[in-house]
Amino acid sequence: MKERLTIAKNYIESKTNFRPEAVIVLGSGLGDYGNTVEDIVIEFPYAEIPGFPVSTAPGHAGKLTFGCKEGKKVALLSGRFHCYEGYRAAETVVPLRTMLMLGAKYVILTNAAGGINKEFSAGDLMVITDHINFSAHNALTGPNIDELGPRFPDMSFAYSKRLNKIIDEVARQEGIALRHGVYGYMVGPSYETPAEIRALRVLGADAVGMSTVHEVVAASHAGAETVAVSCISNLAAGVAKHALTMEEVLEAGKKVASRMCALVDGFLQKL
Ligand code: HPA
Repeated sequence: MKERLTIAKNYIESKTNFRPEAVIVLGSGLGDYGNTVEDIVIEFPYAEIPGFPVSTAPGHAGKLTFGCKEGKKVALLSGRFHCYEGYRAAETVVPLRTMLMLGAKYVILTNAAGGINKEFSAGDLMVITDHINFSAHNALTGPNIDELGPRFPDMSFAYSKRLNKIIDEVARQEGIALRHGVYGYMVGPSYETPAEIRALRVLGADAVGMSTVHEVVAASHAGAETVAVSCISNLAAGVAKHALTMEEVLEAGKKVASRMCALVDGFLQKL
């Protein structure tokens, strides 16, 4: 894995001197944020970068964009890799870890998630305050990459309280309502059963999704500060009275895209 990351890093370094300060990962239906970057320095389709996996998920374009946004040097990862596609957790974080090896210190993650908390509605935005990994997968299994971080990294501060404060402030200023809650990770690709959702609620999850936690673990391992925001695209199985579809999730992503963009822009300004 270390070799793979080094190959990807070396390839990018051979093409540009740009070094991102912040990485933004765009989840289901939120890919349009990539089109709002004013000063694009260089773009790479994932398929061009040796060492990167190739994206298969619908709604995920699969490209890396380097550019400037709100005065910050950002790397946008449009499209991500998931364990439900058959990748190992360690493979899903290759793009993010490559950016961390290039020196990025801030990580902004977005995703679509199902609402478990009964107070939530479809279309809500939720800042993730913590997560529960309901799987046996971990992004850091395999030999440790000592250059990035320690073998047994602490996760007490994986979600930065400082960055969450900033995002709360931006939301207040922009008049954007924000929920806060715990994200439960399930591998998928099947959505959960109603019984699983009831169990997840008892265990402390407010929302459920199939991404993000591996990136948070990888970012925290490398000492990067992380903030993660979920678009509650639907109410989870059993909370919703109808069957869940991918179309519903992607549509909801499009509806919240402008609020999510305003939030990320405001956040970058204050960073
Ligand atoms: N469950 C799991 N992942 C999801 C959901 C859901 O209900 N909605 C969006 N991603």
